[in-house]
Amino acid sequence: MSSPTSFRFLSLISLLLIIINPSQSHSSEFNRRNNGVVYVSLYYESLCPYSKDFFLNVLENFIKLDVMSIVHLHLVPYGNALTMANGTVSCQHGPDECYYNTIEACALKTYPMRFSLAFIFCIENGLPATSKKPSLWRTCCNRLRLNPKPIKNCYSRHGNQLHRHNGRETNWLNPPLTHTPWLLVNGQYVNADFGDLVKSVCNAYKGPLRFRACKRWKVENMSNKRVFP
Ligand SMILES: *[C@@H]1O[C@H](CO)[C@@H](O)[C@H](O)[C@H]1NC(C)=O
Ligand SMILES: *[C@@H]1O[C@H](CO)[C@@H](O)[C@H](O)[C@H]1NC(C)=O
Repeated sequence: MSSPTSFRFLSLISLLLIIINPSQSHSSEFNRRNNGVVYVSLYYESLCPYSKDFFLNVLENFIKLDVMSIVHLHLVPYGNALTMANGTVSCQHGPDECYYNTIEACALKTYPMRFSLAFIFCIENGLPATSKKPSLWRTCCNRLRLNPKPIKNCYSRHGNQLHRHNGRETNWLNPPLTHTPWLLVNGQYVNADFGDLVKSVCNAYKGPLRFRACKRWKVENMSNKRVFP
């Protein structure tokens, strides 16, 4: 009954259910250092090819690692967009990007992280969409058995407000964002690269647990050359 694609997303859900820390909230709290949690924040744009690549080739693999159990993920879709004085947001890749940034922001606000991530992977996998805009995210809702109504309501009622809020958070970044995806581990800039992400998370974790992923990625030899202090 299920096609290989829907099977893929269903297995992704069961995987996410197991591995993602269920106690995640939406707030960015990396200043409140907690030995047991590492904060990974991602600032991105829905239609940026590098952001898409990060989701599908880095994050989709990273969340399968055992070390994910101590990671608090925080995603902020906005990137290089600009908010005009009259409140209109203008996106680097045009109005479609603003549309998908807002849909993804709504998913992050509506569903638990494990579901919104699966939803965002599904959307990014389908972008750039050639057909009518709403059909892509509605297809993703169907595949993941998510109710599309809260997304639709969020988009029409406070989508723009949410997008602008993400803009303010992005503009507060210090050092400022110069490209997307822009990745922080406990507030420190990290190259958006799989190995660097794993190593940074493993190094940032000060708790008692030992992770296979950290062993495999030879954390003890992580180069200390970060682009920013
Ligand atoms: C807001 O300002 C921009 C540029 O200044 C303009 O293009 C746009 O039409 C304005 N939008 C509204 C709703 O007034
Ligand atoms: C780490 O680096 C040292 C010297 O730089 C090297 O001898 C060692 O084999 C490296 N260990 C791993 C696990 O890569």
